Parts: sequence; structure tokens; C-alpha cells
Amino acid sequence: MALFGAPIAHEDHAQRAAHAALDMQHALAGYRAELERTRGVDFRMRMGLNTGLVVVGAVGDNLRMDYTAVGDTTNTAARMQQLAEPGQIVVASATERLIAPYFELEPLGTFTVKNRTQPVAAYAVRQPKSHVTRLAARASQGLSPLVGRDEALAMLNQAFTAARAGRGQVVFVVGDAGIGKSRLVYEFRQRLGDAVTWLQGESVSFGQSSPFLPVIEVLKRIFGIEDRDPESGIAGKIDAGLEVVGDDAAALAPYLRYLLSVDPGDAGVARLDPMQRRGKIVDAVLRLAAARSRRRPLVVLFEDLHWIEVASEDFLKRLIESLPGMAVLLLLTHRPVYQPPFGDRTYFWRLPLQPVAQEDAIRIVRATLGAEDLPPDLATLIARKAEGNPFFLEEIGRTLVEQGAVRLEDGRLFAAASAATITVPDTVQDVLSARIDRLGEGQKRTVQTASVIGRQFALELLQRVSDVQDQLERSLAELTRIEMIYENVEGSEREYLFRHALTQDVAYGSLLQAERRRLHARIGAAIEDAYPGRLEERTEELVFHFTRGEVWDKVVQYAREAAGRAAGLFIDARAVELYELALDALARLPDSPEHARTGIDLRLAMRAPLWRAGRLEPLFERFKEAEALATRLGETSSLDTIYSFLVQYHWAKGEPQRALEYGQRCLEMAEARNDLGLRVTGKFYMCWACEGLGRYREGVEHARDVIGLLEGPREQERFGLSGLPYSGVCAVASWCLAELGDFGGARELLRQGERVAVAADHVYSRTTLAICHGYLLLHQGRPADAVAILGPATKTCREKNFAGWLMLGLSPLAYASALLGQTVEAIPLAQEAITAQEKTGAFVNRAYMHMTLARVYLEAGDLERAEASARTGLGFADQHAERGWRGWNHWVLGEVAARRDPRDPAQAEDQYHQATRVATELGMRPLAAHCHVGLGTLYGRLTRQRKAQEHLTIATTMFRGMDMLFWLEKARATITAMGGHL
Ligand SMILES: Nc1ncnc2c1ncn2[C@@H]1O[C@H](COP(=O)(O)OP(=O)(O)OP(=O)(O)O)[C@@H](O)[C@H]1O
Ligand SMILES: [Mg+2]
Repeated sequence: MALFGAPIAHEDHAQRAAHAALDMQHALAGYRAELERTRGVDFRMRMGLNTGLVVVGAVGDNLRMDYTAVGDTTNTAARMQQLAEPGQIVVASATERLIAPYFELEPLGTFTVKNRTQPVAAYAVRQPKSHVTRLAARASQGLSPLVGRDEALAMLNQAFTAARAGRGQVVFVVGDAGIGKSRLVYEFRQRLGDAVTWLQGESVSFGQSSPFLPVIEVLKRIFGIEDRDPESGIAGKIDAGLEVVGDDAAALAPYLRYLLSVDPGDAGVARLDPMQRRGKIVDAVLRLAAARSRRRPLVVLFEDLHWIEVASEDFLKRLIESLPGMAVLLLLTHRPVYQPPFGDRTYFWRLPLQPVAQEDAIRIVRATLGAEDLPPDLATLIARKAEGNPFFLEEIGRTLVEQGAVRLEDGRLFAAASAATITVPDTVQDVLSARIDRLGEGQKRTVQTASVIGRQFALELLQRVSDVQDQLERSLAELTRIEMIYENVEGSEREYLFRHALTQDVAYGSLLQAERRRLHARIGAAIEDAYPGRLEERTEELVFHFTRGEVWDKVVQYAREAAGRAAGLFIDARAVELYELALDALARLPDSPEHARTGIDLRLAMRAPLWRAGRLEPLFERFKEAEALATRLGETSSLDTIYSFLVQYHWAKGEPQRALEYGQRCLEMAEARNDLGLRVTGKFYMCWACEGLGRYREGVEHARDVIGLLEGPREQERFGLSGLPYSGVCAVASWCLAELGDFGGARELLRQGERVAVAADHVYSRTTLAICHGYLLLHQGRPADAVAILGPATKTCREKNFAGWLMLGLSPLAYASALLGQTVEAIPLAQEAITAQEKTGAFVNRAYMHMTLARVYLEAGDLERAEASARTGLGFADQHAERGWRGWNHWVLGEVAARRDPRDPAQAEDQYHQATRVATELGMRPLAAHCHVGLGTLYGRLTRQRKAQEHLTIATTMFRGMDMLFWLEKARATITAMGGHL
């Protein structure tokens, strides 16, 4: 077995392997003839090739390995070999993809391979195609539209203008693999057209041992020599081509013939000392070039100088020296690793190619995928990954299609998988691995170690973890020079960045698992040592490294800290993730009472972020687990917190009775132990439960108790809740008072709550209060003021993911908008509240949400839907014992019935009476007043004037008393319309 691309990766390892296989067959042909002759044996060899990842055995260090490659890739190669006829070379599809542009291949069909579900396509390798450049190979798949190279082309033109006038110029086109050097000169050539003679030679990555390779190519082109030309033909073409140099032709011919591997016709050439001969050859080529350029301007392109061998390099030195008097434009392309040894001249141009701009990048991706439009997030993601490198852009695009990550239907693109799962394409990986592998050992280690730290890495850290201390500075300098990394000069400490994110990915991927783990653990420890006072800002980083380094106790510690910080900033999804991470890590540590206690604390800490996100069920799970642990350990204080959570949980689930029972239990325990926190948290949700049950006065009492308990220095404490309990009870109590019609009292409570929330600068609590304030204003009949508050408050809820309060804010916002005549906007808002709550599995206030939707439909004149919605609301109210909402839903049904058929009052009357009964029982004065308006209006239409008068008078008196002026006006208008007066 022979391995290519290991231990040193090459970007063209597959081509090398195919060349080697063909050369072996070629060499064996002679041996075969000999065996046939001497032994009468027909000897032929078959070969199989495949490309992919292999696992190599027992690793010493990166360069000294025990080479046994195992795995799928080698199995498939063996299968290809078995398939081959004697004397044949068979490659699998993975290799075919890479070598197809460069070799003639014959498809053999598909075959099954052990352990692989998909059959593999096989191809026989015939021979190399004659001279294909890499860009031409890509061009056969179609070139992307050229983007962003106007300036570069203009500069080439300028240089050409000078050269054409007889002042030879040299342009160095410099840039990373794939940045577009070849493409640029290709485009330039198209623009020049036939006005010049274009000569071109490439260096190849495996050509270092063939002297003058690119020069030979140039000459072949000058002379028009084809690969199949016989020797005599070649000699003739050389002589003809040399006519331009005139009398000296005969003297130069032997050297050029020698170079082109035909008999020089002069035995002296072969006898010359090699160095001398090289000099003569160069002279000959230069003379030829000079003569040609006098006839017609020449553009000579040498591609890929980073792979050039010394002979050609010497030739270039000489050419460059004699250039000033020649009409020659010399174009040289190379990657940044190469340092041109030609000094500095006035006729030099350096043309460094920059990455293409983001919108240009997106154009390339679109063209590659053949799609008119691209989902914007996918487009930017690809653009970001490839960082403006056209080759990477094309390859990532192709890989996405191949891997099925995107689908194309009717010219439109769909992302099939999460866009975040984009992997580095093989081709790009090959380029980058080759680049990394060609580095010196110290530099390679440095790049690998740095890749574990991150895209950005501080020198301080690298120094602490590097295995190549003595070479570190030198390595970094060299890596900077070849532009693999650059120094970030902005920060206060010395810091470097990988110039390309993909380089970091590939370097990281080149490390074995165990090695990564070791480095991550070391880096985590190094961060702790290096920044002792500043660990707080680095917790996420520490979590990252210790997780990958599998240092579980540290993961628990830092994930917990980071989670706490995230929760404090309301980045709840991240906070939950981090807590989960900490729990996972904890599970890997040995069982101990201390760890169990940590497990309880972590779970209890998840209460606020999960609650705010409306994720009730996972929260319940976590608390159940905590309960089991706490019971086992006999941790009473934790159990207290758990029971206080159950008050909250049952409230949210729409089980106010049970909430109250658990609340009562909390209060008893709090009493027994004189525990303030427990008393406060217990009461807090009892207060809410009372609101749900319609026990508004009791709710207010609980609230006042909490205020009394906290007033003063403890106002701003949270006791594990999402918001400040002080502000929270003010909010609920204001809601209760609004139902009772005490708007002044409600407003006063809101002010109190607001004072504390502002002092604590607590966004969640302030949002809560704002929503209750909006509800209050709406209830009182000030829809415009309500919208002014609810609009921004619900926006904050959306931004910060305050799920529960978003639902509770959307409903009043919807109804307020409807009252302002915007029913079209209001309906989806009211519906959204309901769907949002359905998602969380909570039920509290669902009856209210349906009632609101019904009222919005009523405003829109859609009686059908209004009725359906109110009936649903009524159902929820009964199911969850929410008596207040029961009353309101009856009222809505009364309104529906009254409008539907005013001549048959029985139905409407019945609904209004039921509503009134609730209102009276619970002290809901606004509801009672609304019922009176409803009945009065109903009787008015039936010309039962006296009764109408009676109800409307009560209503107006009540409205006036409660300062509900909007509704007062409405009631008055009704009276006027009926021709009555007060
Ligand atoms: N400005 C551009 N606009 C559109 N496509 C481009 C542009 N530049 C390069 N490409 C495409 O990107 C791919 C790589 O370009 P090219 O072969 O010129 O890179 P290179 O710099 O010569 O790389 P290498 O160092 O490997 O030779 C090609 O398919 C090319 O068509
Ligand atoms: Mg190129």
C-alpha cells in the first residue's frame, strides 16, 4: 500500500497518486517484456486507488508514524484493486472527482463495497490529458462571473502600456490559494486579444525535480511543438522558430534542442559542465525572447512561483535583468509563502489580491449554486466562512449541494439542513492542509496549538502552552510573514489572528482527539493562571476549553458562573444551555453529597431563565429531580424553594386551588422557621392565584403583606424569582384593583412598584409593571394611552424573550388597537397570545385571552367568531376556576346575542344576568357597569324606556364614579340616540 498526502499533505495528492500509478505501469512494461522473454511468464499488475480519511496506527509525533492505514477508505481502495483487470488502474469515485479534469478515465459502473451502504462508482485510468492548468480544469465546470477586479485589471493595463513601448515590466500577482491570481491573468489575456504574443508556463507542485519545466513549456509554445511530435519534427520546428534571431540561430539551436530532449546535434553540449550548460541554455532562450519581442510585444506569464525550481528561477533572474530594453510584460503569480529573490527594480509592480467584497462573494455563491436567490442567512454564512476567497466560495457552494445541505427547485434554493453545519470541503481542506504541512515542525506545532486556543490567540497564552517554546517567536514571525496569521494591533496585549477561519478549522482538524483534549485542558488552566483577576470576562472561554479538555469539575464551576451571568442579562436560552452543560459535567463526576448539593443548586437556578422563557415542562422536570435529591439529602431549605416553585407552577398551569394549597404549606413552613424568602415567594404566587380565582380583595391583601415584609432595605431582593417580588406584587394587585374599579389605588401601587424596579434597574420587572399599567389604562377606557405603553413593552418582551408577559401584554394591546379602529391588526395579535401560550403548556388567563379575541371580533363585527371565541373562553374559565373571566365571557356573549337579535332579549338578558351575578359576587364594578349598559341598550331598542333608563342611569353613575370617562361618553351617546335624557 502506498499513501499520498501523508505525513505531508499535498493539495494535489490524488493527481500525484494517479501519475505514480501510471508511471509504475510504464516502468513495469519493460520488466514484463523481460519476464516474458526469460521465463515465459505473463506478468501484469493491477492497482486500485481511493481518496479519503484514513486512520494511521501508533503515532510517534506528526512526522514519524507507524504507517498502517486502516478504515473505510483503504477497504474501498482494496476493492478497486480486486476489480481491476491485470494491468489496469481503477479508481473509486472519490478519487475520480479530483483527477477527472487531468486524466482520461473510463467509467466501469458501480460496485458494492463491504461495510458501505451506497455502491461505489469505479473508473479505469487511461492516461494523463496533455497539459491542463488548474484554472482550465475549473473552467471546464464553468467560470463564475468575474467580480471586483477592475482596479487590478487597470493596473495590468498600465504595466502593459509601458512594456509595449519597449520598457519591459514585471508584475507580481500575489495572493493566497484560490484568491484569483490565475483568473485575473486569464481575464487580462481575454482583454488583450490577438495584439500580443502570449506565452505561459506553470510550475507544478511535484515539478521541483524537473529543471526548466515552465521554460520548456514556453518554448514548446513558441515552436508549436505537440506532445506527439517525433524527434525529427521537433528539431525542424526549433530550427524554423529560431529564424527570428538571424545569424546566431545555428549557435543557439543545440542548447534549445538539448533542453527539449532531442538530440542536440552537437556532442559538445552534453559534455559541458552542467552549470555552464545551464547558462548557455538561458542565454539561448533570452536571445530568442528578445528577438521575438522586437517583432511583436510579448506577454510572458510564469504561474505559481511558489513551486518553481532553481533552474527556472535563475532563468527568471536573467530575464528580469535584461527586461528594460525589451517589449515584454512579465507576469509572475505566487502565493505569499514565496519570497521573490529578484530584489527591487523601478519596473516592478506588486499586485496583491484582496478577498472579494461580501456582495460580490454572494454573487459567486449564487452562480455556483445556479440559484437566482439565496436565503440571506445562508448567503452570509457562506460568505463569512469563505471570507472572500472565490475558490473557497465555489467549493463551499458545491459541497453544500453534494452533501444535500441545500436543494434547488425551480431555480429557488432551500436550505435542507441547518446552515451552521457547513463542513470544510475536501478540496479546500487539501489546499489548507498542504499549506500547514509544508511549514517547519516548530511552525506547524505553533499553528496547531494556536488553533486550539481559537481564531484569535494571545501570545501570553500560547507561550504558556506551547511545546516549542524556543522556536515560538521565530515561528510566529515566519507565520506572519507568509500571512497565515497576523498580529492584532488593537488590543493591549500581544495577540494574533488566523487570517483565515478555515485555516484554523483545518489545523484543528489535523490534531488527534487525545491531543486536542490535552491542549484544551492545558489552555483552560493557562487562562486561569494568566488572568487571575479577570476570569469573570473569560468564563465562556473557560467553559469551552474545559469541556473539550474534559476537565469536568472545572466545567461545572465555570458553566454555572457563566449561566448566572447570562441569566442576569436575560440571555435566557444561553443561560439554560450553560446550566444543562454544568449538569452534564456534574453527572460525570463521582457521586458525593457535595456534588448532589451542587446538582440541586444548579436546578434551582434554572427557575428564572426557564420561567421567563415560558418553558414550564422542562422546569417542572428539573424541580422534580431537585426534589428527589433534596429529599435524599434532607435539605429542607431547598425543599422550601421547590414548594414555592410549585405554587408558581400550579398557578401557571391554571390550577389556582392547588397553587393556594402549596402556598399555604410554604407559609406554614416559613412560619415555623421564620424564613422571609419562603414567605415572600409563597405569598407572591398566592397573590396571583387569588387574581385567577377572582378573589381580588384577598389578592391585594397578600400583596400588601409582601410589601410590608420587604419595605426598606430588602425591597430589591429576588429570592430566586424572575422579577422583583416587591414590584411583582404591586403589578398583580393593580390588576386586581382594576377589576374592582379602584383605578386610583391601582395606579398608586404601580407607582410604588415602579420606584423599586427603577432603583434596581430591573428590566423584567419594569416590563411587567408596564403591561399591568397598559391593562389598567385600557380597562379604564384609555385605549390610545394603553397602546403607547403596551407597544414598547411587548416589543421588549419579544426582544428579551419574556414569553409569559408577552402573552399577557398582547391581549390588551389587541383590544386597545381594536377600540382605536384597527381591528385588522388586532386580530392576529389576540391570536398570537393564545398560540404562544399553547406552546408553553400553561393555561392561566387563557379564558381572558379568548375573551379578548372575542371582543376584538365583536369590534370587527364578526359575531360568529366572537361567539365561538367567548364560548371557548367560558370553557377555560370553568375548567380553571377563573371566575372573573367567566363573568367577562358571559358579558361578551350577552353583547353578541343583543346584536344578533334585539327583538328576542331572552338570550342576551340571560348572559348579562350571569355576568352581573359574578360581578356582584366578586365586586367587579367595571364589569357590572358594562352589564348595565348592555341591558339598558337592549331595553332601549325594545322601547322599554323605563327599564332602559334605569340601567343606563346606574351605568353612567358608576362610570363617573370610577373615572371611566370613555365608557361614560359611550353610554351617554346611547341614551341620546334613544332620544332619552338624564
Ligand atoms: N474575481 C473573481 N470573480 C469570480 N470568480 C473568481 C474570481 N477570482 C477567482 N475566481 C474563481 O475562483 C477559482 C480560483 O481562482 P484561481 O484559480 O484564479 O485562484 P489562484 O489564486 O490562481 O489559486 P492558486 O494559488 O491555487 O493557483 C476559479 O474557479 C476562479 O474562476
Ligand atoms: Mg492559480
